[in-house]
Amino acid sequence: MDTAAPDTAPPDTAAPGTAVPELDPAAVARWRESGGELVDLLTAVRRLGGVSGFRLGDRRVVLVTAPEAVHHVLALHPDRYVKRSHRLKAVLGDGMIAASGERWRTQRRVMQAQFTGQGVRRYDGLMRDAVAEIAARWTGAARTGEPRDVAADMRHFSLDVIWRSMTGRPLDPTTHREFLAAGRMVAALPAFAPATGEAPPDLTAELAQIDAVAARAIAAAREWPGPSLLHVLLAAAEEHPEYTERLIRDELVTLLAAGYETTATTLSWLFLLLHENPAERDRALATPPGSAERGTAIRALISETLRLYPAAWIMPRHAEREDVLAGYRVEAGTTILTSPYLTHRDDTAWPDPERFRPDRFAATAPRPAPGAYYPFGLGPRTCLGVQFGLREMTLLLETLLPAFTVVPHTTPAPTFGVTVRPDGPLTATITPVRTAEPLDG
Ligand code: HEM
Repeated sequence: MDTAAPDTAPPDTAAPGTAVPELDPAAVARWRESGGELVDLLTAVRRLGGVSGFRLGDRRVVLVTAPEAVHHVLALHPDRYVKRSHRLKAVLGDGMIAASGERWRTQRRVMQAQFTGQGVRRYDGLMRDAVAEIAARWTGAARTGEPRDVAADMRHFSLDVIWRSMTGRPLDPTTHREFLAAGRMVAALPAFAPATGEAPPDLTAELAQIDAVAARAIAAAREWPGPSLLHVLLAAAEEHPEYTERLIRDELVTLLAAGYETTATTLSWLFLLLHENPAERDRALATPPGSAERGTAIRALISETLRLYPAAWIMPRHAEREDVLAGYRVEAGTTILTSPYLTHRDDTAWPDPERFRPDRFAATAPRPAPGAYYPFGLGPRTCLGVQFGLREMTLLLETLLPAFTVVPHTTPAPTFGVTVRPDGPLTATITPVRTAEPLDG
């Protein structure tokens, strides 16, 4: 349980609630036989309503996409709908994402100060160094016309940022290679494992690579005065006996894993969306360089990208107890799936939902209704790294957007694993902008 006090209140209404509408079991069976993507099944379930369900064997699953119901589950009653052992627990161990209860609370408290709007400014210099490296690569590519894999560049950038923030050092090729190899395997895991009875994949080799990366990070941090994210963890070990070597490893791997693929895929989608919507790029760049308006315009591009492609597209919870949810009866033991991907494309919450319209997030635009927008989650388990991620993406885009245009050679489709990411590489020509503002990355 995640909140301070245990939730002993009765369900919201005395009425028992109506039964959640469920997808015909024959349709679920057809989906299983076809080996279809989870998102296809959920899209079919969603057509039954914003709280709708299906069965997988004995397991009851309820998909929650209506904003008010999402808010109820994630923000108002995290004690009724708990985050259970994460599907990446085999990799992340007892790191914050997979932890729960009192341990989770301590772990979150230890890291919190690093991740406030103010706290992340400590890492500005390191982030700018990582930005400069990508800007230099793109300057070279723009000169030679050599295509680049923008998705790979964004992965390098986001891993470099987090690596520098832990060790003070730029990402070295060995770490990069080992982490990516392990990351590919992890990214291919299902977003939500239906109880198929299949044995979980054997990750022994990948775990050994991740452990080697973690050991290298700790050794590097010990040789550097900091401050760094890793120093906070090492200092915690002096105060809290539970911060064993193992927990430090788990927390470090959690930060690497949580902070890398999410940011990298968001940036890849953003370049694809700007290619399809060049007027939106021009509109953002019509603001004065370095101004607050430029920052707001770039933030709106990021927010709208995260509306269409919220990296963590599905967030499972476990109903600890019976409840009435938006008038529906939810039984204890039900698996709950909230999906920002589906909520963000719901036309009752977002008019013309498929269109990329950053003005939805202009300073003067009305704020989304509670539960209508949650790319970083909601409630106590909200993403710890919101400010960190937004800062690194903003710094990168403030440098790259005015200087380069990305012209993709293909139109990748979304693939839905642990994150929603473009399938395959994002090969593109990097074109210099003729009236470019000077590079300052
Ligand atoms: C675009 C970038 C990012 C997105 C879309 C994103 C999304 C999310 C979401 C949706 C959750 C909550 C999952 C749930 O409730 O089940 C989460 C949790 C978390 N994120 Fe992020 N994240 C991003 C960047 C980062 C970065 C840069 C870091 C760290 C450097 C980070 C660290 C974490 C951690 C530690 C948690 C677990 C928090 C807890 O359980 O208390 N994230 N993230």
